[in-house]
Amino acid sequence: MLQRPRRNRKSPAIRNLVREVSLCAKDLIYPLFVHEDAEDVAIASMPGCTRWSIEGLVKEAGEAHALGVPAVVIFPAVPEEKKNSTGDESYNPHGLIPRALKALKSAHPTLCVITDVALDPYNSDGHDGIVQVRSDGEVEILNDETLEVLCKQALSHAAAGADIVSPSDMMDGRVGALREALDAAGFADVSILSYTAKYASAYYGPFRGALDSAPKAGDKKTYQMDYANVREAIREVILDEDEGADMVMVKPAGAYLDIIAKLRENTMLPIAAYQVSGEYLMIKSAADAGWLDEKAIVLESLTAIKRAGADLILTYYAKQVAKWEREA
Ligand code: PBG
Repeated sequence: MLQRPRRNRKSPAIRNLVREVSLCAKDLIYPLFVHEDAEDVAIASMPGCTRWSIEGLVKEAGEAHALGVPAVVIFPAVPEEKKNSTGDESYNPHGLIPRALKALKSAHPTLCVITDVALDPYNSDGHDGIVQVRSDGEVEILNDETLEVLCKQALSHAAAGADIVSPSDMMDGRVGALREALDAAGFADVSILSYTAKYASAYYGPFRGALDSAPKAGDKKTYQMDYANVREAIREVILDEDEGADMVMVKPAGAYLDIIAKLRENTMLPIAAYQVSGEYLMIKSAADAGWLDEKAIVLESLTAIKRAGADLILTYYAKQVAKWEREA
């Protein structure tokens, strides 16, 4: 036998030499939840995750950063009484996210802080855009009216020190609108990480529980993508590039590895992938029940996302992976 592929697998040293991709804490973005309360509260729908006070958030982000995680993305849990149909709280310069941003950036100047741009945490209808109920009772999400609010939201984040704003709303034209608004206000240095191919997915269920942000009526299928589609993701990446996105994202990640690979062939921009709350919960719940080896599954699932072509990964396991890396 001339060909014996097993020779390249015969020892850990050789396996490491021929390993094609590696997972590193420096590629990870840690999503964190923040609320107005002074207490840190465990999230029932996402065991192991917490709704942090601003103080708790600063501490948790600092620990992750010290372990080698370069970036966090922050999501607000907004009290019901601050929500309205136009999501005005989303651009309050003294709102939760601007205050959290300032606290994070002053405590950890080298930490990259990313904010989510979308209306769902602030909107009494629980949609990413402004809702209009049609005469037939159907829920319509207004695109162009929403863009104006998203721009104000992004500007409030930029003013408070965001390094990157990340539109997750899937409105048409939002990357171009944000780029123009940021540049006009003197924030040419603020980057845009676009949720380019964000699918209408049942994997977001636990996240909506974490923020109490589920849509009150209808679903998100008129703006998030149909999970049966591939070419549509390429169309979205072409548009986002044209509109000035700095990085693009595929979400969810694990069930969409083909989409990551396709985008890799179709863009030179860095690609992020989001291992979302449902992916996290499937691993966590099976591990907590003793049915799966948590560390092995997490490392395999994240490495697979990198192998598919992702440069960066958003994962609730970011801090844990950094810890494992230190121990290794
Ligand atoms: C909201 C947003 C969602 C997530 C990130 N930003 C939920 C949604 O679109 O309904 C999901 C993240 C996760 O499930 O971990 N714009």
